[in-house]
Parts: sequence; C-alpha cells; structure tokens
Amino acid sequence: MQIITSPKEFQSLCWSWRAQGVTSAFVPTMGYLHQGHLSLLEWGRSNAQKLAASIFVNPTQFGPGEDLSRYPRDAEGDAAKARDAGVDVLFMPEPAAMYPSGFATSVSVSGLTGGLCGRSRPGHFDGVAVVVTKLLMLSMPTTAVFGQKDWQQLAVIRRMVADLDIPVAIEGRPILREDDGLALSSRNVYLTPEERAQAPEIHKGLLLAREMAADGERSPRKVLAAVADHYRAKLPGASVDYIECVHPETIQPVGDVAGPALLAVAVKFSGARLIDNMLLH
Ligand code: PAJ
Repeated sequence: MQIITSPKEFQSLCWSWRAQGVTSAFVPTMGYLHQGHLSLLEWGRSNAQKLAASIFVNPTQFGPGEDLSRYPRDAEGDAAKARDAGVDVLFMPEPAAMYPSGFATSVSVSGLTGGLCGRSRPGHFDGVAVVVTKLLMLSMPTTAVFGQKDWQQLAVIRRMVADLDIPVAIEGRPILREDDGLALSSRNVYLTPEERAQAPEIHKGLLLAREMAADGERSPRKVLAAVADHYRAKLPGASVDYIECVHPETIQPVGDVAGPALLAVAVKFSGARLIDNMLLH
C-alpha cells in the first residue's frame, strides 16, 4: 500500500488509473477506522480494480466549540487496517495542503441541508461539500463509497454530484452496528461506561418506530412522540438534539409515514453527539 500526503501526487496516480481504463473505488474517511469504515473498503475491494481511501479530519466541517481538536486519531493503526483491507493508496494530507493560504471557495447545497444535522451544526455541510468535491476532483474514481449512517450527508453528496456533473458513481452502504445495536462510530470512544450501557437504546427507539409503522401507524407526530418517550425513559443521561421523520431523498419533513420515510435522530451525551437513522419502510 502506498501512502501519499501530496494532493497533486494523489491526483496524478488516480487520474492515471482513469486514463488507462482501470476501475477504481474511493472511500473518504476522517480515520480512527472501525468495522463500518472497513465495510466500505470491502465493498470497494470487491467492486473495482483499484482501491483508494483517504484519512483527513476536515477542519471546515467542524463548528466552533465542536470536537475538532480532540477528534480521535490513530494514523499508524489506521494505515495497518487499510493495508489489511487491501487499499492500494491511502491519502493522508495535512490541512495546509488541502486548504493553502488564500483558499476562498465554498460549496453549498441548499434545501437538503436546512434540517437535521444542518440545523444543529450550521456550516457543517458546506465543509463536507467542499472537502468531498476536492477529494472527488483529486481521486476521480469510478465509484465513491459512503455509509448510510450519515444519511443526510449521503443525500447531500448525491445531490451535489448530480448538480455539478461530477462523473463519479455514488454507492451508499448499510449501517454497521455493535451486537447490541449501537451504530459504529469513531465518536463512541467519548462515551462514559454508563453512557455506553444506555446508548443501544438509540437503536431500540428506531426499531420501536419501525414496528409502529409496520402495524399501520401513519402519523409522524405519534411515531416521533413514542420515540421521544422511549428516549426520556431509557436515556436519562442524554438530551435529544432532534428526532424527525423526513423524506429519504429531499430530507424534508413528511406528513405520512406510509410512504418513503426516514426516521433520523441525534442524541447528545456528556462528551459525544451520536446520530442514527432507519427507513420506516
Ligand atoms: P467519517 O465519519 O470518518 O465516515 C467515513 C464514512 O464511513 C462515511 O461515509 C460514513 O457514513 C461511514 N460510516 C461511519 N460509520 C459507519 C457505520 N457504522 N456503518 C457504515 N458506514 C459508516 O463522514 C465522514 O467521515 C466525513 O464527513 C467525510 C465524508 C470523510 C468528509 O470529511
């Protein structure tokens, strides 16, 4: 596995694959790799001839007071995991290489970014959009692979890639969970033991909602109230940031959960804000 820190060098290599007609998959990450990330790499390894990945804790997607400075990092461990996963090239740039002085461009996707994490984290999706645009322009893969864990992010990226005619297919992969249901996340390390013991209730609340929908409940208001009650009872140490039922593509609130509906939640613990989601159908 080759490790590259220079954007230009990474671009030359990836573009040479494209020029030779070699298929490639690209998996962007912020590192501290877990099985969820590895599942994306596995998909890439089996569906393309070349596999590229990036590890870059992107400063522009963190707001003031968020966890940029303490975001968990393990460059050596990550490189070993990427190598084992069959990555051909691992791109690990420094922030100054991605955002040299004078950098002045923003990428903003409107509409889909107004609710959910966009409301709680103003500017977050602009940061994601600009870095993903850069990473796609550098790697120009056949397919870029993302997780449904960050459903709104995936929807924003699909919209952006379509709107900007970026010639890359976007593959969305299912959420990987611990045996107790907690969605894998680099941020789970922030949880205290007590919080870790409660955290699977996030997923249980989603399952409860899906059962209600399967039993014929159509009112988002009733489903959301039941999930809120569940969290109040089972997550006493946490506060709910949002619980919403939205259309899976437009991320706009839905009036009926009998049609396409995504239940998305964000819950704040003492040191971690965790997100999760589930399609109700
Ligand atoms: P990061 O949080 O490191 O996640 C990298 C990719 O892994 C994302 O596509 C995310 O959805 C996916 N992922 C995370 N947890 C997962 C899980 N439990 N199951 C399946 N996939 C999972 O998302 C980012 O980084 C950044 O915003 C990035 C896209 C790299 C831009 O900076």
